[in-house]
Amino acid sequence: MSLVDLQRTIIDWYAGAQRDLPWRRADCSPWGIFVSEVMLQQTPVVRVEPVWHEWMSRWPTPTALAASPSGEAVRAWGRLGYPRRALRLHGAATAMVDRHDGEVPSNLEELQALPGVGTYTAAAVAAFAFGARVPVVDTNVRRVHARAVTGVEHAAPSLSRAESDLAAELLPTDPDAARVWNVAVMELGALICTARGPRCDECPVRETCAWVRAGRPAYDGPPRRG
Ligand code: ADE
Repeated sequence: MSLVDLQRTIIDWYAGAQRDLPWRRADCSPWGIFVSEVMLQQTPVVRVEPVWHEWMSRWPTPTALAASPSGEAVRAWGRLGYPRRALRLHGAATAMVDRHDGEVPSNLEELQALPGVGTYTAAAVAAFAFGARVPVVDTNVRRVHARAVTGVEHAAPSLSRAESDLAAELLPTDPDAARVWNVAVMELGALICTARGPRCDECPVRETCAWVRAGRPAYDGPPRRG
């Protein structure tokens, strides 16, 4: 399968299989996307959704969150786990007020310069909120790339040069396709190409998957994002 065919196949699969999640809707603000990405980093969608809605009604903008004491943000974090993320969001909101007139900045460098914002969050927000053509690589995406293309999963905590190069190579040239590609691969990793019990018989790229060809070799644990 050519690279373009792989992209098209996964993008077409996503059109029929995607979950309707509030931060993926066209009317979701960059701030809503920003908050969702921080919440989703270590917490599953089903637990994030109700808390995300609460946060959005209470703090619909960075300015609103920055005006509340940070302790309120921690309290409203509920049981999402890793509550330091609430403080990171509060710190980022404060920096948006100070440096960006209360808006989420749109470019990768400015996003990355916000306190508590790492490579993943900056790329995800640039891509999903502003349509930037940048690869978005979380644990699920990393696993799909590894299995579908190389057949070998990686155990290193952070992304290797080869993995970054592969992610860049796989990203469609067309900006609209690139935007869908990022979320489509993420969804394939979340719903089909799961770490444990992958549903290969439902996978759109099962015919050409390098990992399937290699006999689905066992792998001793998920990589963690660095
Ligand atoms: N859609 C956009 N970003 C997402 C994420 N991090 N997890 C699940 N679905 C998403």
